[in-house]
Amino acid sequence: EAASKGGYEYFMEKEIFEQPEVLIKTLNSRVDENYNINFDDAGLTKEYLEGINDIYIVACGTAYHAGLVGKYIIEKKTRIRVDVDIASEFRYRNPVINDNALVIVLSQSGETLDTLEAMKEAKRHGARVVAITNVVGSSIAREADHVIYTWAGPEIAVASTKAYTTQMVILYLMAIDFAYKFGKITKDEATENIKKLYEVEQSIQKMLEYNEKIKDVADKIKDNESMFYLGRGLDYVIAVEGALKSKEISYIHSEAFASGELKHGTIALITDGVPVVVNVTQSDLFEKSVSNIKEVTSRGAYVIAIAKEGNTVVEEVADEVFYIPNVEDDYAGFPTIVIHQLLAYYLSKLKGNDVDKPRNLAKSVTVE
Ligand code: G6P
Repeated sequence: EAASKGGYEYFMEKEIFEQPEVLIKTLNSRVDENYNINFDDAGLTKEYLEGINDIYIVACGTAYHAGLVGKYIIEKKTRIRVDVDIASEFRYRNPVINDNALVIVLSQSGETLDTLEAMKEAKRHGARVVAITNVVGSSIAREADHVIYTWAGPEIAVASTKAYTTQMVILYLMAIDFAYKFGKITKDEATENIKKLYEVEQSIQKMLEYNEKIKDVADKIKDNESMFYLGRGLDYVIAVEGALKSKEISYIHSEAFASGELKHGTIALITDGVPVVVNVTQSDLFEKSVSNIKEVTSRGAYVIAIAKEGNTVVEEVADEVFYIPNVEDDYAGFPTIVIHQLLAYYLSKLKGNDVDKPRNLAKSVTVE
């Protein structure tokens, strides 16, 4: 087992560090040397897409969180409405879908029972189902109308990392491809967008160099019982996954909130020394996010901010700042989640938990 960890202490660490490589592999599986995206084998032709009314994304756990990012980017690029559903809810709520709906199911393992059943429910309503999964020949891959594989390689740690970011890559490619097919962007703009996705490799690589500093911060906050994650827009959906990583393996009660909701309840929970991780990477929301940091620091919170390089003003309001490279806003989620993953990893490790096999959790949930 030690050998298969490639010198890393835990699979999770290895899998976090594999992300630059597997993101490129996943991109290369769908993008040719002329920057054409190919999803035709998944039935996503221009003719088909022109006939759809709605897109649904259905998944569980971390894959559901990738779906939230998918909604954000697909709606932004295409202006088509996207609903994201938790599979166990979708399957029982008699969803309003018909044969003009495209249903995208996301599942690392391809074996999650609720996702499989939700997919069958969608098919009963006549929808077309495209599965995005990491396991070739899995139940979900076999039952879907079409399959798009992520090429993350085997993911062993229960807490998902590289599967999530490769799912994001496919969803970004869909957003770009659909936007092009709907005439929302030109071929040159699509190419520019794809190049930015390729650049994610370097921005993630840079975050991996933060390893030691993240460990130091984790050491300072590891004994807290609760911590919070805040963000707006894309920063919020990334925060939701950050909080899940932390709760799964560090066992610290970790919750994410949309920063704008602070004043509607969450702020009552902010007391002296409570760690609050705040994503402040979105330019148009920057001022508002900085005010939210002030709101929590004035109640004693210990703020760990993630901001873009150059935004040093954040240092004046936060206790710790991690800088991501100055990428375009839409691509900031990739380096940001890597900081969250590493923070959760070190919290778990420093607390002496079994990082790869957290209590009460299974890698793949094949029962209801
Ligand atoms: C379990 C795992 C999670 C995963 C979820 C969905 O809860 O512990 O890491 O996100 O199942 O799994 P799937 O294989 O469908 O992506």
